[in-house]
Amino acid sequence: MPIVKLKDKTQHFQFDEAIKMLRTNVEFAGENVQAVCITSCLPNEGKSSIVARLAESMAQAGKKVVLIDADLRKSVLLGRYIVEGAELKGLSHFLTGQGTISECLCQTDYPTLQMIFSGPDVPNPAELLGGKRFTALIEALRKNYDYVLIDTPPLGSVIDAAIVSRQCDGVALVIASGEVSYKFAQQVKAQLEMSDCKIIGVIMNKVNMESGKGYYGKYYGKYYGRD
Ligand SMILES: Nc1ncnc2c1ncn2[C@@H]1O[C@H](COP(=O)(O)OP(=O)(O)O)[C@@H](O)[C@H]1O
Ligand SMILES: [Mg+2]
Repeated sequence: MPIVKLKDKTQHFQFDEAIKMLRTNVEFAGENVQAVCITSCLPNEGKSSIVARLAESMAQAGKKVVLIDADLRKSVLLGRYIVEGAELKGLSHFLTGQGTISECLCQTDYPTLQMIFSGPDVPNPAELLGGKRFTALIEALRKNYDYVLIDTPPLGSVIDAAIVSRQCDGVALVIASGEVSYKFAQQVKAQLEMSDCKIIGVIMNKVNMESGKGYYGKYYGKYYGRD
């Protein structure tokens, strides 16, 4: 199995605290919330960063976690890791019948955290994610992990996240502060509700805590439970 290491391990206190809060909220969402996907309205709202930190945080708390990069259109997760060892296969290999689940899994620095990267580009991501092999993958992973976390593309651009959410018990919506109109957020929420997956929360990202501070002064995520 290939081994992957995160390139940038910079930690920020406020961000870490917000991630811990998010982890606790996912854990308290109930025992039947095991497969969770994360999406947003627009690109660059922070989905991939947040879901990767959430996965690490869960692993640090002793949970067995698999993180899947289901953004088959603009994958960034792989670029944030250094890969060592065996040949790397990804989700698109599995979905097109070119790899087994175990061939697609990578081991991270955290003993209980494994990852599946997106793999090479495919012409029909939505179709593949809506197919039988994706359903079978999630079913199989559920048996082996406490949590299956899935990164997706923005739902305001493509339908993939709604398709993925059908296989999940919960979906979390990342909203970058000041970047998304209320109306747009409502439209995306309505789209998720149509896929019949519980919205377990909204994560407000890039909240400007104190103006006048540098880049990382903005590093903050806040979690609001839905109920
Ligand atoms: N809270 C934040 N404050 C400042 N920059 C952030 C924050 N969250 C994410 N970013 C940065 O924004 C960019 C996009 O984040 P990413 O997680 O790739 O978004 P997405 O997956 O939604 O497209 C990255 O460069 C990331 O480092
Ligand atoms: Mg992303």
